[in-house]
Amino acid sequence: MVYKKWLYLLGIIAFIGLSFISVTTTSELNEKPIFIPSSPQRTGDATKGYQYLITGDYLKSGLPFRYFKILNGKDKHNYLQRAGKNALVPHGFNVVKSNGIDIVVPTCLQCHAQEMNDSLVVGLGNSFLDFSKIARGNNLIKNLASGFMQTFTPTDYLATKDIMRSMTTIAPLMETEVRGVNAADRLATLLVAHRDPQTLEWQKTALLTIPDEVIPTDVPAWWLLKKKNAMFYNGFGRGDFGKFLMLSNILTVKDTAEAREVFSHFGDVLAYIKSIQPPKYPYSIDQEIATKGKHVFITNCSKCHGTYGAESSYPNLLIPESIIQTDSMLFISNHQNPQFIEWFNKSWFAKGELPAKLVPSKGYVAPPLDGIWATAPYLHNGSVPTLEALLNSETRPTYWKRNFQHPTYNTQNVGWDFESLKEPESKKAYNTTLKGYSNMGHYFADHLTTDERKALIEYLKTL
Ligand code: HEC
Ligand code: HEC
Repeated sequence: MVYKKWLYLLGIIAFIGLSFISVTTTSELNEKPIFIPSSPQRTGDATKGYQYLITGDYLKSGLPFRYFKILNGKDKHNYLQRAGKNALVPHGFNVVKSNGIDIVVPTCLQCHAQEMNDSLVVGLGNSFLDFSKIARGNNLIKNLASGFMQTFTPTDYLATKDIMRSMTTIAPLMETEVRGVNAADRLATLLVAHRDPQTLEWQKTALLTIPDEVIPTDVPAWWLLKKKNAMFYNGFGRGDFGKFLMLSNILTVKDTAEAREVFSHFGDVLAYIKSIQPPKYPYSIDQEIATKGKHVFITNCSKCHGTYGAESSYPNLLIPESIIQTDSMLFISNHQNPQFIEWFNKSWFAKGELPAKLVPSKGYVAPPLDGIWATAPYLHNGSVPTLEALLNSETRPTYWKRNFQHPTYNTQNVGWDFESLKEPESKKAYNTTLKGYSNMGHYFADHLTTDERKALIEYLKTL
């Protein structure tokens, strides 16, 4: 009997032990990179998609053209070589019709195009915008506009009121701590809070609780999307990409009839975005060293970032927090504030024949590295100024600033020239000690020798 009792006890202990082991194995399993499956996407006409992006009315409320001219003067570049009134406004605006008058509306290219070497790279994330002063800027525009408004015709007023309403509600809540990072996620959050999920109609008071923090991101390059099975840094954008691409429309959308009309163009827009090739590295590359670097890359990096060249491959992996160790605030916020995910997943965007869905995760997608030379600063929050600093974490600056007016490119470190600072400065300097702005993690190249790292960087220039 005693013997049996012991056996029984042993059994329990063994069971507890086993379940303990199996718990650790499952959590270890969770700590492995997770494959992101693809979802069906629409096809479309890339040429039409491009034309729609640079001339179309996916926003239908803006400032009357004649007032915009007074505010902004005439654009000198006409980078997009547009015709008519579009030729006169900067590349981040389209001139569209509203009740018969010309109005100027902001576009995707505010954030998704950047000047480089005296030309414009469409699809390159703009890391020069200043969201750290947006509230002040908005007040200025508001004051000017209320001055203008005294001379507004009723049609002018109708054309302007929706964008003014959105901007005055959200701009004060959108400031970032430093210049150069983007507040688009915050923008989406704030806009969604003021919209009925089914009808998309504007609600005066926010329906959802709005978190305090503005989480900074760096704008990803458009040419990466063709390889990706999920959108956004934490890979939570699943299902039809067109629904996410058109999200800016909620800045001024009136109802679902308008949303449907705008959405009908986004198969074409997706086709255009997928057609974009990364810009080629414009300076010289030492091919011999780059070839050595390719081996370093294949040994240390390919399992997450894929392979490049003739037989390219991309594994579409979500890398969990415990492995990547970069600032976690961006994906944690989706769990701390699920109200936005819930809003989206029951909204018009998640319905219909081509639904989209937000699937929050706890990690980041290992992005494709095509055109990586052009997309400094690095990591999802733009906290690391150069590839050299990314691949040698000891050299990452805690506080650093760059020249936003006249940036110069550094071919050795690969990225914009920057200055390391001893202490935090104005909002023009990046401060990695702030919440959400940390430069930690991604330590996968720290063990390399100086020569290996140099070769690796030379290779990265060829992608
Ligand atoms: C205010 C700036 C801003 C505007 C305007 C904007 N975007 Fe973005 N976009 C971003 C930021 C920032 C991200 C990254 C967000 C994230 O992943 O958390 C992003 C992500 C994306 C991505 C995902 C890329 C990827 O690799 O996952 C695509 C595609 C995209 N935007 C297309 C568009 C289109 C099309 C428009 C216009 C209809 C637009 N965006 C308007 C800032 C902007
Ligand atoms: C275990 C997977 C993994 C390995 C191995 C890995 N990376 Fe990454 N890498 C990531 C993830 C995930 C990110 C995005 C992290 C973030 O933004 O917070 C990233 C980001 C980057 C970025 C910045 C991208 C951008 O646009 O800001 C570069 C450059 C990069 N990796 C290069 C490399 C190189 C070179 C190697 C090999 C030495 C390497 N990585 C090894 C997962 C990996």
